[in-house]
Amino acid sequence: MQYRLYHPADFEQLYAIEEACFDSVLRFDRHYMKQLTERASSVTWTAEWATEESTRLAGFAIVEWTRMLRGIVAYIQTIEVDPAFRRRGVASELLRLTEDSARQAHATHIWLHVDETNAAAIALYCACGYRRHGHHPHYYQNGHGAEIYAKPLGKG
Ligand SMILES: CC(C)(COP(=O)(O)OP(=O)(O)OC[C@H]1O[C@@H](n2cnc3c(N)ncnc32)[C@H](O)[C@@H]1OP(=O)(O)O)[C@@H](O)C(=O)NCCC(=O)NCCS
Repeated sequence: MQYRLYHPADFEQLYAIEEACFDSVLRFDRHYMKQLTERASSVTWTAEWATEESTRLAGFAIVEWTRMLRGIVAYIQTIEVDPAFRRRGVASELLRLTEDSARQAHATHIWLHVDETNAAAIALYCACGYRRHGHHPHYYQNGHGAEIYAKPLGKG
């Protein structure tokens, strides 16, 4: 698996992963997703699977950062792995790269929302050192609440 920064030519493959990961009601729409990847204070990492014949995007993660009163804080907009490539450590590596980028942007903490019923993602974040910091009821379009997970970034 190769990990590299996103470029705009990846968009169709990136969005196909969004479609494979989430029901339509929960998806970012194409316009918003494109905007997320284009924001000045954001980075999108991709995982790419290459064979002799072709290459294919296997996953991606988008992080952005914002200056708050107490310093810079990073937020994971999404992390998604194509179902064919799951449980091979792809998301863990994307998360590691995402945290490195946030650190380079001088973020002191990183946080995210995750659907309260998304056991796979919650297990991933816990395995990667994130801790639960709160709950946001009815956060998602399907009425599900969101758990808030966060991690101090330290030196990495
Ligand atoms: C959540 C998701 C990103 C995990 O991707 P992945 O590449 O399979 O994750 P990894 O292989 O890096 O898993 C790392 C660890 O997380 C935990 N984990 C990941 N998926 C899990 C699952 N389905 N069940 C239980 N634990 C899981 C395990 O501890 C795993 O380590 P292990 O395989 O050694 O047991 C993937 O399932 C996905 O894309 N889901 C749909 C999109 C989504 O919900 N994104 C999160 C938005 S908040």
